[in-house]
Amino acid sequence: MPSSYDLLLRQGRLLRPNGDLNTVDIGITAGTIAAIAPHLDASAPLELEVEGQLISPPFVESHIHLDSALTAGEPRWNESGTLFEGIEIWRERKQDLSLDDVKRRALETLKQQAMQGVLYVRSHADVSEANLMALQGLLEVREAVKDWITLQVIAFPQDGIYGGPQNEELLEEALKLGADGVGGIPHYELTREDGVRSVQRIFELAQQYDRLIDIHCDEIDDDQSRFLEVVAACAIRTGMGPRVSASHTTAFGSYNNAYALKLLGFLRRTQINFIANPLINITLQGRTDTYPKRRGLTRVKELWQQGMNVSLGHDCVQDPWYSLGTGNMLDVAFMLIHVAQMTGMSEMNACYDMITWNGAKTLHLGETYGIEVGKPANLIVLDACNRYDALRRRATVRYVISRGNLIASTETPQMKWQPLTS
Ligand code: FE2
Repeated sequence: MPSSYDLLLRQGRLLRPNGDLNTVDIGITAGTIAAIAPHLDASAPLELEVEGQLISPPFVESHIHLDSALTAGEPRWNESGTLFEGIEIWRERKQDLSLDDVKRRALETLKQQAMQGVLYVRSHADVSEANLMALQGLLEVREAVKDWITLQVIAFPQDGIYGGPQNEELLEEALKLGADGVGGIPHYELTREDGVRSVQRIFELAQQYDRLIDIHCDEIDDDQSRFLEVVAACAIRTGMGPRVSASHTTAFGSYNNAYALKLLGFLRRTQINFIANPLINITLQGRTDTYPKRRGLTRVKELWQQGMNVSLGHDCVQDPWYSLGTGNMLDVAFMLIHVAQMTGMSEMNACYDMITWNGAKTLHLGETYGIEVGKPANLIVLDACNRYDALRRRATVRYVISRGNLIASTETPQMKWQPLTS
């Protein structure tokens, strides 16, 4: 007698972690992957024919600011396009924050991402405003969406831990309220010494409260911005490396090669994670250059070649720093291919891995991530035959399955050629 499942996927091309593709049926029951086989003699109330389409683990958004998402143009546009004008505009906009405002925009952005296959998101929450509105809003959203998307919240002191009299206290309060991780912005502290001290304080807090670390590190073109070495030193001394992420590190792209090579050796010892945000890095950085104009991206290719874990994020979706973006991780990886010149086939495949498995490693998701029997049924189906095809065409995510439920489906747009009639 045939088995019965809640949901069946028929004849999709299952992407394995090593890049292999196997044509399989997948049976899902009670939110769990119950069976994977070349053919399942089974039935289900919902059967999806996905022949020839790519079945992939969900996309992972490693770095976004949901508290500022969807505020572009409020109260004004960032005309200079710089990080620092963005910070000024956000400082004005956040005076009007309310819980409802934060939650509404965060939820809308998460829905947009989920519909495009993102089921794991790490968001920073600005904790340098007195009432911690952004943090509280995102913590409430984290709870509200937990049945269909996993949200991680990092307490992020946008104005620096030592940039205001209460910021250090607010950061610690955010951890007490339940933030998943500690953030920082050492290159935006008032002095270099404050920057070093801020990194050390972040590690202390992470150890004290047993949290992850994700530091906005050296997000500037200044080749003398060298807080990544401080992060590396703290990671080596504490042994916390795999729980630590260095976001942006764009100055790494401007370091001289002698220093960069030495630093790479230190970094290999740390096992820290790197998060690049190519959409915004290529638009925000290089703004003070005339020509030649730098790309302002961290050394993604070299980090990847050295075996470091690199994952990717949007950073921003329609906010004072980046007014574009739809939440589609394929756009992010596509931009990386160009900016980091990752155009070899193995390099392009690696870029796909950066928005899936590598992101899962950055977020410390552990064994729950991936498509295997016994794991939670979180997967996506793309209208593509492999990773390269998905990236080249920024393929439509046809189905999104979260916790065993079909939560979104999208029809692939069809182009129709109209022959000229004489
Ligand atoms: Fe950021």
